[in-house]
Amino acid sequence: MGIQQERDALLGLITGAAEAGAAIIREGASRLGTIDWQSKGPGDFVSEVDLRTEAAILTILRPALPGVALLAEETASSAGAEARQGHCVVIDPLDGTTNFLHGFPEYAVSISVLDAGQPVAAVVLHVPRNERCTATLGGGALVDGRPCRVSTITDPPRALIGSGFPAKDPHDLPVYQRQLARVISGVPDVRRAGAASLDLASVAAGRFEAFWEAKLAPWDFAAGMLLVTEAGGIVSTVEGDPLDPTQPSSVLAGNPVMHRWLRDRLRDPQYDPPHDR
Ligand code: IPD
Ligand code: CA
Ligand code: CA
Repeated sequence: MGIQQERDALLGLITGAAEAGAAIIREGASRLGTIDWQSKGPGDFVSEVDLRTEAAILTILRPALPGVALLAEETASSAGAEARQGHCVVIDPLDGTTNFLHGFPEYAVSISVLDAGQPVAAVVLHVPRNERCTATLGGGALVDGRPCRVSTITDPPRALIGSGFPAKDPHDLPVYQRQLARVISGVPDVRRAGAASLDLASVAAGRFEAFWEAKLAPWDFAAGMLLVTEAGGIVSTVEGDPLDPTQPSSVLAGNPVMHRWLRDRLRDPQYDPPHDR
């Protein structure tokens, strides 16, 4: 099998697993008030739907990929060195759990396959919209089977920027507030939709010109980062360094011009509110 065929086969497998997960999430969404959920920490929840979705995905992937490391948010973990060797599947069974629990229709199943620590196949399935954003390394990014590209808007006064609040790490809030002030004074608006995989899919689909978040886990961004790069965009840490999808990290993504603009703006104190300077 050629390398592109192998990546296509992996994409087919993880897309099937994401569909199976989405069916469980949809069933849960139809009886929201009855769902059991717990807090894992500040601003961080897990529900029976997260757990059952992850179990269903693992039940499909384990026998199909014997011996392959699985880095899944709620149960199976293969962090660090193991995730950087050979193949590793990175799974967020339900990205946007808080949205899901409140019936806010922005949540997804996000699955990617890494090869030697770099994503080679990715799917982000927007569950309420039933929209699939997919990519293979070298094969381009697609929205529901149609090729997508990052936005061509390069003028900040016309740009829409996505972001994520540090809700799980409140001590990061002062730095974030300064960053937000710097960005929002240069663009018409900023969106916080609440599911990082979908934020990155929005960059890939040209809906956001750029996106940043201070701290994400590999399962939040590993799939989305491939969507963005295959759609012609740039991904990095907030500092502009290469992104490692096996480690927690800050994430900055965008079309090439707006990625650079956002990186520079996030650290430019001349845009701080007057009382912070
Ligand atoms: C969260 C979402 C959110 C981001 C958080 C993530 P979860 O994932 O992606 O947008 O701001 O940092 O943890 O907990 O809903 O899977
Ligand atoms: Ca997540
Ligand atoms: Ca999750």
